[in-house]
Amino acid sequence: MRVLFVATIVILISAFIAFNRSRSYSSQATSHVKDSAVDAHLWRFEAVPIEGAVGPESFAFDPHGGGPYTGVSDGRIIKWQQSERRWIDFAVTSPERYGCGGPRDDDQTEHVCGRPLGLRFNTTTGDLYIADAYMGLLVVGPAGGVAEKLATHAVHEPPNFVFTNSLDIDPRHGVVYFSDSSSRYQRRNYLSVILSGDKTGRLMKYDPENKQVTVLLKNLSFPNGVVLSENGHYILLAETTNCRIMKYWLEPSKAGTFEVFAQLPGFPDNINRSPRGGYWVAIHSRRGRILELVLSNPWIGNALLKLPFNIMKAYSHLARWMGSSSALAVRLSEKGEILEIFEDKSRNKWRSIAEVEEKDGSLWIGSIDMPFAGVYKI
Ligand SMILES: *[C@@H]1O[C@H](CO)[C@@H](O)[C@H](O)[C@H]1NC(C)=O
Ligand SMILES: *[C@@H]1O[C@H](CO)[C@@H](O)[C@H](O)[C@H]1NC(C)=O
Repeated sequence: MRVLFVATIVILISAFIAFNRSRSYSSQATSHVKDSAVDAHLWRFEAVPIEGAVGPESFAFDPHGGGPYTGVSDGRIIKWQQSERRWIDFAVTSPERYGCGGPRDDDQTEHVCGRPLGLRFNTTTGDLYIADAYMGLLVVGPAGGVAEKLATHAVHEPPNFVFTNSLDIDPRHGVVYFSDSSSRYQRRNYLSVILSGDKTGRLMKYDPENKQVTVLLKNLSFPNGVVLSENGHYILLAETTNCRIMKYWLEPSKAGTFEVFAQLPGFPDNINRSPRGGYWVAIHSRRGRILELVLSNPWIGNALLKLPFNIMKAYSHLARWMGSSSALAVRLSEKGEILEIFEDKSRNKWRSIAEVEEKDGSLWIGSIDMPFAGVYKI
């Protein structure tokens, strides 16, 4: 028993190191890179602190260019007021606020307080659509307040959403495309989605005409970031466990078919269009050799999950103990080639990143666990 325990600890630590270790990205990627890699540590960096919460997971700017807005760990959606240089409270996804905003890394209140992840504005109406990991799909008007629930399940397709994650809106008819990362594990157990080889994630669409949700793709391995292409012909979807980006066609001649758009050397999180063309993909961490072993032998991951302690807790303690990793993202072309690599190894601040949103020559960088939003001036 004791040997087994020690062995699993060793595997866990090695998997952790493999999951987090920063190796030089360039050596693996140069063959695909068209432009030169970005030297991020030469850019001007600013950490914009967040009071009383952590983890600005994604960003959205309103139709007037205000913001960004971001969802944080205590369930609030906050708005950056550039003129006053501070965040103001904008909206919440749960009317229940009792006990919200406790210790910073306590995720035990998330299911009550909400954890807003994906955010996008309808640019005509100014309504903000929200994918909340626990509350499902919601919307809130331009004045903010308590968001209204739009959907928590798909028509005739149980179960209810378990881990709603990312969304995008089709400007032609207001249809919302969004991901539910797992039907088994909640956000606070996101590592279990990967370790167990879970394949219960779904890509869905919400039609504002009939207010119904339909399932477009299921049996996905941790579907995560969702973005519509510039021309509206397809959706890109990050499939985190498989380290790849899928392309799902909307254009009538190919509608409903999908293919691999890009294979990545790490675990992708959110995707956003870049105003300079292509798509920014935030990479949570690299796919190391030991993790590769765990992923190709599901029994190892499942054994880890059966251990008599909370794997997320162990992971976050290890994360603190091991220190930080680097911030890593890639900009992909419309063909899925890497155009640009963003990497900041020089600042020991980032453990991982979740989002890159480019706006007016700045990159806003989000994460699930840091107490600030990062801004890099290009
Ligand atoms: C905004 O929502 C309306 C109503 O659902 C829809 O008709 C319109 O296409 C949407 N516009 C954008 C830009 O998303
Ligand atoms: C999808 O998953 C369900 C339940 O897990 C399974 O019954 C079904 O065969 C799977 N479908 C495909 C295409 O793999």
